[in-house]
Amino acid sequence: GKPVVFIPSRVPEETVQYLSTVADVDYRDEEEMLDEEDFLEGVSRADGLLIYSRNKIKHDVLERAPKLKAVCNIAVGYDNLDLEDLTRRGIAATNTPDVLTETTADLAFGLLIAAARRIPEADHYVKSGQWSGWLPSLMLGKDVYGATLGIVGYGRIGSAIARRARGFEMKVLYCNPERILGDEQQLGLEYASLDVLLRRSDFVLLQVPLTPRTWGMIGERELALMKKDAFLINSSRGGVVNEDALIKALTEQWIAGAGLDVFAQEPLLAGHPFLTMKNVVTLPHIGSATRETRAAMAMKAAVNMAFILRGERPANLLNPAVWK
Ligand code: GLV
Ligand code: GLV
Repeated sequence: GKPVVFIPSRVPEETVQYLSTVADVDYRDEEEMLDEEDFLEGVSRADGLLIYSRNKIKHDVLERAPKLKAVCNIAVGYDNLDLEDLTRRGIAATNTPDVLTETTADLAFGLLIAAARRIPEADHYVKSGQWSGWLPSLMLGKDVYGATLGIVGYGRIGSAIARRARGFEMKVLYCNPERILGDEQQLGLEYASLDVLLRRSDFVLLQVPLTPRTWGMIGERELALMKKDAFLINSSRGGVVNEDALIKALTEQWIAGAGLDVFAQEPLLAGHPFLTMKNVVTLPHIGSATRETRAAMAMKAAVNMAFILRGERPANLLNPAVWK
């Protein structure tokens, strides 16, 4: 019979219809995560998994997946996958780069402005009835226009953020394993070491993938290098930052504030210090969350899946070693 594709979360209907032409689709139209047993039951019958990054596909899940040939992430990041284990088992994995680049850059830049100009705090102030009139020192923030932006991790999204920063006439530093000479020339960027970037930037923006190399890369030492009036913006993965160190830095005012779309543990649980810190803007991991982009991501993942199931090499293969 046809291969079985398990989709444990809500995706646009057109994605399900498209995959139904090449597979028997076990589709769960669910916003919430399935119970673990329900999820593993679906996995045990699946040739392909079409998932968001909230589903962790590591050893314990793979042990329950005897037929699995394809794991197609509806995300650009793939730290939810154990790529080594997948490769060892001959299971192809894919992600969805490109389609979310501009959308995520919009959110990252919006988060930067929101933190600098205290937009969520000001909104809360008005709506909670505290606004009693114009005050000379009300909600004073920090200028974005003309400030120095340091982008840590200069991939597609980092580059899209740098293009936005140009419109604000920002000085842009970037730190990346490789130099990107084309962007240096076209956008007037300056390549910097992490330490130089941290010392000079008014806004330090993290856009690196989460890997063993980037895990916890921003800790006390790094935060202590930042300017006292600088902001940390994280639109990549929470694990890149040592959160205890960040809480200390914010509490002891080593830095002015932070804008965070991602956290070490998501969701934030009741009582988490960030929930009561005025100088932290928190978002619920919504970098790619627009209707158009989520639809494009789901379809891109589905096309990757269809290629793999037909025995053709998918465009966004993460582990080429499985393809012989
Ligand atoms: C979402 O965080 C993604 O990696 O696409
Ligand atoms: C994502 O598209 C990245 O490479 O940063």
